[in-house]
Amino acid sequence: MMLSGKNVVLGITGGIAVYKSAELCRLFIKAGAKVRVVMTEAAKAFVTPLTFQTLTGSPVYDQLFIGSERFSVEHVGLAQEADLIVIAPATANTIGKIANGIADNLLTTTVMAAKCPILLAPAMNTQMYDNPFHLANLERLQNFGYAVVGPDQGELACGDTGRGRMSSPQEIFAAACRLLLRKEAWQGRRLLVTAGPTQEALDPVRFLTNHSSGKMGYAIAQAAAELGADVTLVSGPVTLPQPYGVDFVSVTTAQEMYEAVLACFSNMDVVVGAAAVADYRPGTVSEQKIKKSGELIISLTRNPDILAALGRMKQRQILVGFAAETENLREHALAKLERKNLDLIVANDLTQPGAGFGTDTNIVTLYFRDGRERQLEKLPKREVAIMLLEEINALLTAAEEEN
Ligand code: CTP
Repeated sequence: MMLSGKNVVLGITGGIAVYKSAELCRLFIKAGAKVRVVMTEAAKAFVTPLTFQTLTGSPVYDQLFIGSERFSVEHVGLAQEADLIVIAPATANTIGKIANGIADNLLTTTVMAAKCPILLAPAMNTQMYDNPFHLANLERLQNFGYAVVGPDQGELACGDTGRGRMSSPQEIFAAACRLLLRKEAWQGRRLLVTAGPTQEALDPVRFLTNHSSGKMGYAIAQAAAELGADVTLVSGPVTLPQPYGVDFVSVTTAQEMYEAVLACFSNMDVVVGAAAVADYRPGTVSEQKIKKSGELIISLTRNPDILAALGRMKQRQILVGFAAETENLREHALAKLERKNLDLIVANDLTQPGAGFGTDTNIVTLYFRDGRERQLEKLPKREVAIMLLEEINALLTAAEEEN
């Protein structure tokens, strides 16, 4: 799991956004992190410690002067153990205290004793957020190296609309992962992912497409961004939310995807072609809606093969393709690896339950250029993404060592 062995202190201060902190806590736990929750008195007015105690399986820390079994001096112990402190929600009051060196509760004393990165997710009323004292405090903290995620614009609990809404748990989690893992392998690496289907118009209302949901490509883009890579996601039409922290390029047709990918290929270290690109498009696109009358024959024209084009142009880049097959998996996958000059191909057998289009899991076999093969068990697409990124990173490191 991506955050195994990482210790996260989740600081919770008093704001209505605390209901989102429970989800954030769960995301950390699911990723394998150990989470210790520190709550201020004001936070406990919004939600009881029991919620977080149940989620983390350990007591919530809220007392400055009462030691626990675990630490003799609570704030020092928590601070020393932490790889990251995330304060979500972070109120104007707590931000103001930290920015001015005030340490008057367990959370602010822990922050003062900490050497690890600190991430703040501000949440407050728009007027409070825009208050010059608050903005100066936030700027001061950022100048000292504190990381800040959000806030978002939008409707606030108090009825106002504007800046001040706490970022979503997923966005805070992604920012936290970047901080936790930033010294590690993916920092500074540039990765391009294609995802989703393409749509090839037949007339103004009809198009040819396929069943790709985009889930695998989006999982790769999201996980790579969390690991600290600079990610560009070129996506065909899907219904998934845009992943956080990636440069997003939206396309419709294979030709548009081809052009978008070629425009940035020379800057990339890795390209992962997870899109199910339509191999053909209608030879002509009717300007008017086609009316029914007897038999209709549509002639199709070949679309450019994006990965094959990259395979011909590649210099130092690592190219990764996908092969979704219904028969002779190994044979077809190896033929594609060769034909497109790839370094790695991820093959899945569409006939297996839990593999392929639309599902949240995948069952894949990795075939490498050097002849290695690795079969992965049935896993959530996110886990497949992380394992795939580990393998790609090993290929990048090996290539760098060779040069
Ligand atoms: N691909 C691409 N451009 C295309 C078609 C596919 O970049 N025009 C990429 C896909 O993103 C995927 C891999 O190539 O990584 C799939 O290989 P491909 O030979 O296209 O698979 P199929 O279209 O399934 O081929 P076939 O119909 O021959 O099985």
